[in-house]
Amino acid sequence: MTDTPLLILGAAFSDEERARLQAAHATCFAGSPDDVATLSEASRATVKAIAFKGHNPLNGAVMDLLPNLGIIANYGVGYDAINVEDASARGVKVTNTPDVLNDDVADIAVGMMIAQSRNMVAGDALVRSGKWAAGETLPLNRKMSGSSVGIVGLGRIGRDIADRLAAFKMDIHYHARSEKQTPGWTYHADVVSLASAVDYLVIALVGGKATEKYVSREAIAALGPRGVIVNISRGSTIDEEALIEALANGSIAGAGLDVFNDEPTIDERFYALETAVLQPHQGSGTVETRRAMAELQLANVSAHLAGTDLLTPVN
Ligand code: 8YV
Repeated sequence: MTDTPLLILGAAFSDEERARLQAAHATCFAGSPDDVATLSEASRATVKAIAFKGHNPLNGAVMDLLPNLGIIANYGVGYDAINVEDASARGVKVTNTPDVLNDDVADIAVGMMIAQSRNMVAGDALVRSGKWAAGETLPLNRKMSGSSVGIVGLGRIGRDIADRLAAFKMDIHYHARSEKQTPGWTYHADVVSLASAVDYLVIALVGGKATEKYVSREAIAALGPRGVIVNISRGSTIDEEALIEALANGSIAGAGLDVFNDEPTIDERFYALETAVLQPHQGSGTVETRRAMAELQLANVSAHLAGTDLLTPVN
């Protein structure tokens, strides 16, 4: 039997991504963490590294099936699907793919803000349907430049979003664990105070238990009827029930959402919410960025297998 030091774990890998990993290392494959148990014991014993892609929970029980596992290299900056505590307890390193996706995720946040404010989805439909040619028009929409925005989480991506919005002459507020060095942006010690001060609230938090429903029902209410919520982080970071209710009853003006709970089978009530711009979790989804993420993931795997320093460790 051939040794397969690399387990490619995740049905979400594209053919090109799988081929890149296979060209670099001898591999075996499992579609999801639950499928690891179906690999033979002999094959599992040769696995030293996992290249992981997806959002299914990967916890200690799966790691225990791989006695020689030394690294889980995540495809993505967010590694909330991986139980890092379980990994650390077993001496398993975890890596992610930070920075290479900041531009794309920030771009889509700003894109959704403009699309929501300028009613671009309805505008597209009006033109395509021929209704515009027949004389129908849209109601005037809303100016985004020059208004105020609150960034929830001023990490690498939040910062890139704020930098872009500064060019839109927006008054920038933020909430983070602590005050940061900024060009005079307004810090808020809590998210409710932030929401009550701004027109747009952009969520750029990390996912995971610590940030579950961080943008609470109270924060959504504080945003008020002109408020627009944009989420490019994880569905879990906002009280989704409260968000749906607020969109349905007009107690906020709208939303731009790239992330949801239970993706891709999201709460069906979203489908009918016309003030929300909905995207299929494609913040990092460009050819250029996905390639950079795949290359960084592979570089971490290769470093571990060669015994050299990991590029982007998280534990
Ligand atoms: C996904 C993301 O990882 O990087 C992240 O945290 O949310 C995305 O880029 C990507 O969809 C692969 O699952």
